[in-house]
Parts: sequence; C-alpha cells; structure tokens
Amino acid sequence: MEYIVGITLALIFCGAAAGLGMDRDRVFYPAVAIAVTSYYLAFAVADGRHELRRDRGGARGRAHADPRSRRASSAEPRIPMSAPVMLMKAVVRPEYGDTGVLRIKRLERPVPQKDEVLIRVMAAGLDRGQWHLMTGRPYAMRLATGLTQPKQQVLGMDVSGVVEAVGAEVTRFKIGDAVFGASSRTFAEFTCAREDQLCAKPERLSFEQAATAAISGVTALIGLRDVAKVKPGQSVCVIGAGGGVGSWAVQLARHFGAHVTAVCSTSKVEFVRALGATSVIDYTKVPLPTDGRFDVILDFAGNRPLSVLRKALAPQGTLVLGGGEDGDRFVGGMGRTLRAVLWSMFLKQRLAMLAGFVKPEPLQALAHILDQPGVTPAVGRTFPLEEAADGMRALVSNRVLGKLVLRVAT
Ligand SMILES: NC(=O)c1ccc[n+]([C@@H]2O[C@H](COP(=O)([O-])OP(=O)(O)OC[C@H]3O[C@@H](n4cnc5c(N)ncnc54)[C@H](OP(=O)(O)O)[C@@H]3O)[C@@H](O)[C@H]2O)c1
Repeated sequence: MEYIVGITLALIFCGAAAGLGMDRDRVFYPAVAIAVTSYYLAFAVADGRHELRRDRGGARGRAHADPRSRRASSAEPRIPMSAPVMLMKAVVRPEYGDTGVLRIKRLERPVPQKDEVLIRVMAAGLDRGQWHLMTGRPYAMRLATGLTQPKQQVLGMDVSGVVEAVGAEVTRFKIGDAVFGASSRTFAEFTCAREDQLCAKPERLSFEQAATAAISGVTALIGLRDVAKVKPGQSVCVIGAGGGVGSWAVQLARHFGAHVTAVCSTSKVEFVRALGATSVIDYTKVPLPTDGRFDVILDFAGNRPLSVLRKALAPQGTLVLGGGEDGDRFVGGMGRTLRAVLWSMFLKQRLAMLAGFVKPEPLQALAHILDQPGVTPAVGRTFPLEEAADGMRALVSNRVLGKLVLRVAT
C-alpha cells in the first residue's frame, strides 16, 4: 500500500513534467524524492495505526497481541492465561512538549509477534528524532505521529540488548543472543523488534556503542554509499561532524577511502580529527570555502543557504541534505531539502535528500563493517533511563561529542 501511494504520486509528477517538456534526467531525482517522501508518510501513518492498536491494548487488540488470549494465533509464543502480567519501566510522554512532559511509567511488558524478538534492553541511542517526537515539532510530522496527542507514548528507536524471547517464525536469533538494531519504544526495559531489523552485536562493541548504530550509523552509511556513491580518493565534507550522525559519517567516509573535511565548532576540533578527518573547518572562525573543492557534501547541521553549500561543491558534485535544526516550526529543515530537490532539476550539481530508513540490507552491511576494527561508534555521554530528560537537554545543548545513549540495564 505504501509503495502504491509513493509510485502513484511519482508517476503523476513525471506525467506533469513530461507535459511541460522537461528533460528526463532532471525529472528522475525529484520523482524519486516524491516517491520516497510519500512512501515514508504512508508508511509512518500505517505504522502509527499499528502502534495505536498496540497502545490501546484492550480486549479486541489483545486477541492478536496477547498470546495469553485463547484466540491468539498458534504461531505466537504460548503463555498460560494464568501467567502474571509482567511490568517494566518505560519513558513515556503522554503529550507533546518540552522535557517536562517526560515520565517514568510502569507498563505491561510487550509480547513478541511471530516475526519479532523480545529484547531485554541494555542501552538505547538518544537522537534528534526523539527530540522531535517529544516536542511534536516540526508540526508537519504530526500528520504521522498524532495531530494533538502522540499516538505512541513510549519514545526510542535505537536499541541494543539481549534476546529474552522469540516469536514462532524467528530463525536468526535465540534466547540469550546479544543484538542491536531498530525498533520503536526502546526507552524501556523491554521492547519488541522485527527479526530483520536486528543484527548480532559485534563482540568488540559495548552495548552502549552498539545502541548508536541503527539510526545514526545507517543514516550516515546510506548517505555516503547509496546517495552520494562515494569513491576512494574523493573529497568529502561533513557538516555537523562532531554530532551523532556526523561522527559516524566522518569514520565511514574514511572507511570508503575518501579525504574528509569535518565542519564543527571549536570544542569539537580535536574530537573530529581523532575520528579520522583529514582537515577541519571550525565554522565559528572560518566560513565554508567557495572554490568548489568538495566532490560530496553531507549536511547534518546549520541549515546553511543552498547557495553557500553549492559554492563549496564541485561543478558536478553531490550535496546530501540529511538534517538541520534551524528550519521553521511547520516543516523544519525539510523546507530547504524540498527546495534543493526541485532546484536540482536545473543544475549540473546533484542536490539530494537523505531519508535514512533502517532497512535490513544497510543494517547488515553496517554490522559487517563494525565486525572489523576501524569504525568505532563515538559515545559522548550516557544517562540512566530515569534521567532521559537530562539526556534530552544535553542533546540540544550541542555540547556532546558524538552520540548520547540511555543506559537501561547493566
Ligand atoms: N535524514 C535522516 O534519516 C536522519 C537521521 C538521523 C538524523 N537526522 C538529522 O540529522 C541532523 C543531525 O542529527 P544528529 O543526531 O547528528 O544531531 P546532533 O548529535 O545534535 O549533532 C548536530 C551537530 O551539529 C553541530 N552544529 C550545530 N550548528 C552547526 C553549524 N551551524 N554548522 C556546523 N555544525 C553545527 C553541533 O555541534 P557544534 O555546533 O558544536 O559543531 C552538533 O555536533 C538532525 O537534524 C537530525 O534530525 C536525519
């Protein structure tokens, strides 16, 4: 259904572009962007509905979700009706707002569906996406997450932990395995994740390090490998290099053999050098160059005007817009991204958006990279689950080096 929405809107766009006599090459990327954005929105709406059904619990929802029910499918794990309800701690936000809306609540422990794994959460990555979900800003996001109230109360997407139970159709994991990956509601002692959204935790990584990989690591990987198609020897500039996604992007760009220029503030200069940046621009002292020296720019911060970024980009270079926090309240950084994708139709330079959905293949590819020494997630600070609000405040202070992580169990 999500594919149909995306492809239909992209076809309508292509038809209109053909009617206007536009060059086919110029139409391709915007059409893909429209397809991806529509897919994402349709996916998010469908996902929101699924989570809402889970949140409601209730007798009707339980028939599918709770295996203690007599009507539960035979493919689900069997737990006797008399089994006590198991509770867990979770960070919830019943309404949108600042960190004051966060609460620690006791909730029923989730039960895995047939293709899911129940994880005892050891650590959960804290990223800007969680800030947006907490505040409900930019407002456009609420089309998917709930207009006036969040559809889903528990925050968190990145996770690492130990498998506690598996659904009947799970084949890759067994109880006791250490895993990492992406799910929803990971700011809790237990969470369920689809098997294909998880990988075995590389032994050389701690749970805290592994908990930063699925959201920030996969975003950086997709930006470099799939969108920019970075090649060895190319010159890559990472803006926001000292942050969660940027610290991954610097290391992965080096892993792909690129020369990396990191853009960050003074306090992060030594940190990004240690990650492998060949040169550093302290943006508080020096502006971006205007000589078109970069083959690829990955922009994760600052919301700089496209004209400034294009001057730093080679004539046939690729600008990948991954984020930025200085947009307006309605569309946030997306306004600039959509303008860029449309503008790209008329330019030799490629201006592309980055939608870093966690898909099985890039997650596996990242796990493979992490199995070897070289790329190591940079965890700047950790907070206990109960101090998630402090973690959120640290996140938006811009002072953290690399990633923030919530420690859930030890
Ligand atoms: N597209 C996707 O799928 C996707 C996925 C994940 C995240 N994102 C987005 O990517 C962005 C970055 O996320 P994150 O988790 O890395 O956030 P983060 O950890 O807060 O990092 C942002 C970094 O940008 C730096 N910065 C702030 N203003 C800057 C400026 N004017 N110029 C250069 N650097 C500046 C900050 O430190 P200094 O100012 O001290 O250098 C900070 O280190 C967010 O907007 C997030 O929503 C997108």
